[in-house]
Amino acid sequence: MKPLIVANWKMNPTTLAEAKRLSDLIKKGIKRIRNVEVVICPPFIYLATSDKRQATKIKLGAQDCFWEEKGAFTGGISPKMLKNLGCEYVILGHSERRRYFSETDEMINKKIKVALKAKLKPIFCIGETEEERNREEAQNVLKIQIKKGLAKISKKEIKNLIFAYEPVWAIGTSNPCDQSTAQTMSLLIKKIISQLYNRNIARNTRVLYGGSVNSENARNYIKEARMDGLLVGGASLDAQEFIKIIETVSP
Ligand code: PGA
Repeated sequence: MKPLIVANWKMNPTTLAEAKRLSDLIKKGIKRIRNVEVVICPPFIYLATSDKRQATKIKLGAQDCFWEEKGAFTGGISPKMLKNLGCEYVILGHSERRRYFSETDEMINKKIKVALKAKLKPIFCIGETEEERNREEAQNVLKIQIKKGLAKISKKEIKNLIFAYEPVWAIGTSNPCDQSTAQTMSLLIKKIISQLYNRNIARNTRVLYGGSVNSENARNYIKEARMDGLLVGGASLDAQEFIKIIETVSP
């Protein structure tokens, strides 16, 4: 499988001109790179203006969506709208959504179901906090997040879902998770999927790593820790740094 490199721009940049500039630089910079799947997830308001031509190679994703298709939900954005706009992916359950927008596992489960129904590929974020890791609860936290997040999701649907292991203590901290821990957690995720679904599905499930990824450490997560891709926050706002990350993971 090609490594999947996802840029999560979060609530950046503050002007459309900057957003266009950043995506143009990335597009140009990765033109010659083969065998890497690149996804950019800008804020909602920049999605409509993004270039969705097949030739650009970069795929589009959103950072969240609501759990209904349409209706009276002021401020909401539905997965169907995203799909109709040309999005292929949607990040769901990010720890910042859990923290600042009070998202629960149950809400995330509803979002995943509706996103799958709209034929989007959810990038389902899970991960423990520093306190949970210190209390040696990391594995249990992951199990609960996965079980609740995937409640009533069928074998057929799960094939379009991608996991992102994002330890909360590693996000935006310049304190990335060491590769062997990332690998252990990735194997745990696959084991849980094998128990909930089956071994074949687990084998084909992609698990990304996210948390202070940069051009220095990116390659090792893919080559050493055997992660299937990366979810990149801060470093994806610097075109040169993001291009370097893509270059270093290219097979
Ligand atoms: P970071 O963010 O790369 O800035 O640590 C990753 C994420 O939150 O997805």
